[in-house]
Parts: sequence; C-alpha cells; structure tokens
Amino acid sequence: MKSITRVAIITSGGDCQGLNAAIRGVGKALYNQLDNIEIFGMYDGYRGLIDNDYMFMSEMAFSGILTAGGTILGTSRQHYIPGKDIVDAEGNSLIPAMKATYNRLGLDCLVIMGGNGTQKSAKLLMDAGMNVVTLPKTIDNDIWGTDTSFGFQSAVDIATNVIDYIHTTASSHGRIFVVELMGRDAGWLTLSAGISSGADAILIPEIPYDINSIVGMIEHRKKNGKNFSIVACAEGAVSKDEIKLSEEESRKRREASPYPTVSYAIADQLEKLTGHETRVTIPGHYQRGGPPCPRDRELATKFGAEAARLIINKQYGRMVALKGEEITSIPLEEAASKTKFLPVDHPMIQVARDIGICMGDN
Ligand code: F6P
Repeated sequence: MKSITRVAIITSGGDCQGLNAAIRGVGKALYNQLDNIEIFGMYDGYRGLIDNDYMFMSEMAFSGILTAGGTILGTSRQHYIPGKDIVDAEGNSLIPAMKATYNRLGLDCLVIMGGNGTQKSAKLLMDAGMNVVTLPKTIDNDIWGTDTSFGFQSAVDIATNVIDYIHTTASSHGRIFVVELMGRDAGWLTLSAGISSGADAILIPEIPYDINSIVGMIEHRKKNGKNFSIVACAEGAVSKDEIKLSEEESRKRREASPYPTVSYAIADQLEKLTGHETRVTIPGHYQRGGPPCPRDRELATKFGAEAARLIINKQYGRMVALKGEEITSIPLEEAASKTKFLPVDHPMIQVARDIGICMGDN
C-alpha cells in the first residue's frame, strides 16, 4: 500500500504580499508530483495548530489565489520567549498542544511561512520533534540567509509610489515632508524606496542621524532653488544622541516623548531649525496590503515549489532561500540565528551617497 504524505501549511506573524502565491506554489507542486497527498491549512498561524483548527485543502483550494493579498489562512502573532518557548498569556508552553495536533493529524511536515520571529519559533517546533520546512516572508527583508523574501518588492513598490505622490504636493507648497516607512529595525525598505523615488534624505536604523545633517541638506537645496525636500525615514530610525542611551533609558525617553513616532520628532525639529512648513506622511500597513507585484508572485511560486521538493525528498529542518539567481535552502538553525540588518558598507548606501542623498550622518 502506498503511504500518504500529510502536510499542514501555516502562515504566521505579520502578513505580506505573496503569501497566497506561496501557498498555491506549495499545494500545486505537491498535488502535481505526489499521488497520495493530504494538505491541511491551519487557521490564523500557530493558533490553528494550538487549537486543532484547520481546513482540508483539496487541489482546487489552491486555484484562483495567486494574485490575492493577505493570506487565505489568516495569521497571528504568538508570544515567543527567545530560544526557549512559545507561551500563552499565563506563560504556559503551547508547544505540547501543537505537537498533539501534529500527531493527531499524522503529519509528515509543517510548511511554515513567516518572518524573523516565525523562523525562530519554527526552530523550537523542530527541536520538539516536528518536521518543518519554512519559507521566508516579510516586507522588512531582514531574514538571515536569504537575499530577499517575498513581500519586500511589493512593499518597495508601494512605498516608492507614496513618495512619488508626495513629491508633487511637496513641490507645489514648498514644504518638507518626512515619509515614515516600515521595516522594524532594518533599513532595507526605506533605502530601496528612498533611492527609487529620489528622496533627498534617507534615515535608516543602521546609521544614526544628526538632525543638523538633514538641515544642511535642506539649506543646500534651498540655495540651489529647490524649495521643498523629502526625507524617507525608517520607523526604526535613531538619532546619534539616542544611540548612546541604554535600552532602559531609551525606553523611558520614548514613553515620555510627546511624539507618536520618530517622524513627528524629526519633522518638528526640522520645522523649528529651517523655518520651513513640514508635514509627516505614514503609509503604515498600506505597505503590506494588496496584490503581490509580479516579482513577488514569481518568487513566492518558486519558493513554494522548492518547499514541495524538500518535502518530497524528506529534507526537513530547512528554510527555502534565494542566493543570487538560485533558489536553494539553508538549515533552519542558521536562518533562525540572526537578523539581517543592512550593512553600512552596502553598495546601495554608497550609491545613495555618490548621488548626494543625505544619509543623516554626512
Ligand atoms: O514585520 C513586518 C512589519 O510590518 C514591520 O515592518 C512593522 O514594524 C510591524 O510588522 C508592524 O506590526 P503589526 O502588524 O503587529 O502592527
């Protein structure tokens, strides 16, 4: 008798574009290559695995979802204790409940799509004896071991478009705009969108800014007849003063701050120091919404097909990755070990400096 391969798909953490394309890639590749396959879709990320809440996914469940934004399975964030556990509000481990669902369904593997936190928590499930294959997804592009993740390019497209639109109104009114972009503690999204949209300053968490450097850029532009300036500011941007503070001091300072986010603090300082009217624009979760761009559809499909290949070959405990033009995979422990920040000597940063973009430190 031929044995059945049973797989459960999980989308976990913050959503992004391309999740459904990746789900489709995994499902189509498995149904197409295996005669005996059962696929389950866990609802709301790890929550479905914890609560035994899932749907059976027939071959047709993977049809018609390529271009859909979000995730048809839903997602959630769990409380993860670094390197130790996934726990509920009372601090009880949720891993035994997840393992019970895994065993009850007789699963051969979990396909887990997620960002940094999810890769780390997937490693805990692997350590607890479950087979896992993971896919890197996030608009932040900060997952270690892969050149990029799906979601990133779509978010860059949206963020670029936002700054393009801001350009026209900034120029009409002669205003300064601070456009705050997502990316958590990494500057990939802001740097890429900032260069693509012709921002005048790009502030990223990896390069602490000095407000006088941005003021200098604005004044220089003014002397050359440009009465407006655009600052692309990462949500995690920090000033040169703040970076000297301890974690505790910096938390206290943020709590006491009258500004809701870093962009408001920068805008206020720029308005006072330059005398120019200044506005803030924050596209926020808009950057994660809507259909994936063609590049993300392609990348997510390739990642999905690679995940299926790993399952067929029983190569578990790996994260699918992009290295140059090649779709490959790396051990999950490696992917889960670090965060991929933007190196300060990255060629893209040099390009920005070469063409005179203010990086906040020059
Ligand atoms: O990690 C993706 C991301 O969109 C970050 O860029 C952002 O800081 C965070 O998630 C927002 O989280 P939430 O969706 O929980 O508000």
